[in-house]
Amino acid sequence: MRDRINQIQKSAIDEIALACDADMLEKARVKYLGRKGLITDLFKNMSGVPADERAQVGSLINSLKETVTKVFDEKASGLLEGPDTSAQKIDITLPGIVREAGRAHPISKTIDQICSVFISLGFKVVDGPEIENEHYNFEALNIPLEHPSRDAFDTFYLNDKWLLRSHTSPVQARFMEKNKPPFAIVIPGKVYRPDATDASHSFMFHQVEGLVVGDNIRFSDLKGALTLFARQIFGEKTKMRFRPSFFPFTEPSAEVDISCILCSGREVRDAKGTIHRCSLCGGKGWIEILGAGMVNPKVFKNVEYNPEKVTGFAFGMGVERIAILKYGITDIRMFFENDIRFLRQF
Ligand code: PHE
Repeated sequence: MRDRINQIQKSAIDEIALACDADMLEKARVKYLGRKGLITDLFKNMSGVPADERAQVGSLINSLKETVTKVFDEKASGLLEGPDTSAQKIDITLPGIVREAGRAHPISKTIDQICSVFISLGFKVVDGPEIENEHYNFEALNIPLEHPSRDAFDTFYLNDKWLLRSHTSPVQARFMEKNKPPFAIVIPGKVYRPDATDASHSFMFHQVEGLVVGDNIRFSDLKGALTLFARQIFGEKTKMRFRPSFFPFTEPSAEVDISCILCSGREVRDAKGTIHRCSLCGGKGWIEILGAGMVNPKVFKNVEYNPEKVTGFAFGMGVERIAILKYGITDIRMFFENDIRFLRQF
């Protein structure tokens, strides 16, 4: 019994000391001093104490109650009045401040989803600078001087050497200069192009770049990785189409389409049998989602890799486009307007 009394005294004093608001303090009071509290319980259990000890135990419990009551009163007056009673009175009956929890932006969420598919395949996530120089944004990637993307109208130049990167591909060259193959990386980030803003264009948007370099990396590896990616993001039934295309830094290059997530390429007919063009793919049945290809040997030479020894594939996708398709968003500007009604839906 004595042990129990000591133990209750210690824990009551600790809990009262730790109470940092009126609520916590009240909880401690009820727990120890309340009608069904631990100290009240001790009195009730007196019948179990041998008759010759009862008087002594009774006075121990009484002094426990006094001590705890005193500690409680002191804490209560401290909490209610605060240290500087002249300057400030806290009204504990006022409603508290509700702190609304934030959430990840739909673009951040989409980037996380894209990256986690590649992480599951063994890719590492890497990043690079948004302010780039002409060397990494163009030359290292075999983009010739006369290429339209080098024009000031197509790129945000800061001066004649530095610019806001127009794609995430420069990080390919930066990474290869500092690392030896084999490796597999994804590079998420912002890119900038001075397009006039409308429902499908923004002067800033996000890309996720991918680069895999090693022994005997083949086009079939590229197809396999991207097919798995598209199925994880858009569903198992998604079909892929690789169309021949051109990028200076990949050879051969492809533009990659997925089967339309609205109509899957099937004709949409109404009850009268009239064919309606799918509003998403325009009836084509396919939607372009990214550019890709085998790393051009010239890019390997630029970073002092031996193109006879290593091969690789690269791809680059627009994150907004993936998010628009995935969530059925009709206007890219919604991502950047900070309208809480829009953002709350994700
Ligand atoms: N950098 C290209 C673009 O922005 C995309 C791309 C990346 C294509 C890698 C091929 C390989 O359009």
